[in-house]
Amino acid sequence: MNRFLVQGKVCLRGEVEISGAKNAAVAILPAAMLVDGVCIIENVPKISDVLNIVEIMNSMGAVAEWVDNTNTLRVDCRNITSCEVSYEHAKKLRASYYFMGALLGRCGKSIVALPGGCNLGGRPIDQHEKVFEALGATVVTEGGSVHCHAPSLNSAHIYFDMVSVGATINAMLAACKAKGLTVLENVAKEPHVVDVANFLNSMGANISGAGTNVIKIRGVARLGGGSYAIIPDQIEAGTYMAAAAATRGNVLVKNVIPKHMECISGKLREMGVTVEEYDDSIRVRVEEGAILRHAQVKTAVYPGFPTDMQPQIAVLMATVEGISRVTENIWGSRFRYVEELKRMGAKITVDGKSAVIEGGRSLSAAPLHACDLRAGAALIIAACTAEGSSYIEEIEFVERGYENVVEKFNALGANIQKITD
Ligand code: EPU
Repeated sequence: MNRFLVQGKVCLRGEVEISGAKNAAVAILPAAMLVDGVCIIENVPKISDVLNIVEIMNSMGAVAEWVDNTNTLRVDCRNITSCEVSYEHAKKLRASYYFMGALLGRCGKSIVALPGGCNLGGRPIDQHEKVFEALGATVVTEGGSVHCHAPSLNSAHIYFDMVSVGATINAMLAACKAKGLTVLENVAKEPHVVDVANFLNSMGANISGAGTNVIKIRGVARLGGGSYAIIPDQIEAGTYMAAAAATRGNVLVKNVIPKHMECISGKLREMGVTVEEYDDSIRVRVEEGAILRHAQVKTAVYPGFPTDMQPQIAVLMATVEGISRVTENIWGSRFRYVEELKRMGAKITVDGKSAVIEGGRSLSAAPLHACDLRAGAALIIAACTAEGSSYIEEIEFVERGYENVVEKFNALGANIQKITD
């Protein structure tokens, strides 16, 4: 078991370079299974979720290789030999469900074990299955795997019952080679959804409307190869922005798309943090003597405040005077980190979908447990603000989604050591 030892009471200062977006990369790599040619994919974060996806692809006969130890992957899926993802592979990450849509589009069938991933409450995939059936596949769950089969895929008009990132992306994957015009309504508009559409289009797909409520996909016979660069990670950037504010620091967050950050920048400004936007970077600082204000956050689909930033902003709220409230509207169980913050001295009450945070208390170091990816990131921030040294256990969760997290925090003045037992 690996742990982080975090020495607290630091003020983060300096510059941090944001990596490629995890939730785009874990969809774009399976999407490459649809491509009948070589894809050069740049800005791929080397995080464990991505390494697991690469391993799954290679186990199916794809050849995915890092170019010269950079963040560029060369992917050749022309000779895949299998349409099956085992439980051993699928359980490691949620995004293994993207192989359902990609393999269905590529081979007309897929057998994919039900996915793992962070425990955030119920994570049904009924909307994914509804899409595959609408496109003409039979979908049966048997022996812990979802079996999809379609002799041919035909277009469909699909209205999602709720906005789902995963189902929207899986629909694009399954439909981009289906005959005719598929229309998807009530879709997710997250930046990584648009990035997947852009990747597919750059390989020869015909997808329009990504980033709006309606996506239209005109099926094409073949996707050829090409080059593509993944967008910067909105949530990684937001995490360092929250960390800068919580430690009352001054950090230039580089390689970001400021437009994607507006929901987070706006909330930080509302709390009294100075946020300056440049072309592809954002400076976050707390002016000397500034007193930050409490706030309310309600998580929502893009362009609303992202659920994946909820634990990190809650830590910032714990450091400011007054009563703040965060309301979680996407996941049923995303407050497990609250118990950890309470052990550091935070005063937080969870009431159904909301957590009420009585801020302004100094946090003190404690042994901590990262219960999921974003919770782990939030605990790093909390430990950086606290007096003393904290241990954080189960850091594998953090390494699933944050590239070089120790190096990046330490370059800003944090004092984090990875301890391998
Ligand atoms: N939902 C259903 N049925 C479905 C699909 C979703 O009821 O078929 C519900 C979910 O239970 C949830 C809501 O719809 O209440 C939204 O779920 P969504 O499908 O959008 O989530 P996801 O695709 O499984 C992705 C990210 C999550 C992020 C959510 C919301 C990936 C691999 N994961 O999950 O990221 O929280 O969108 O933005 O892209 C993270 O990175 O830490 C993370 C958990």
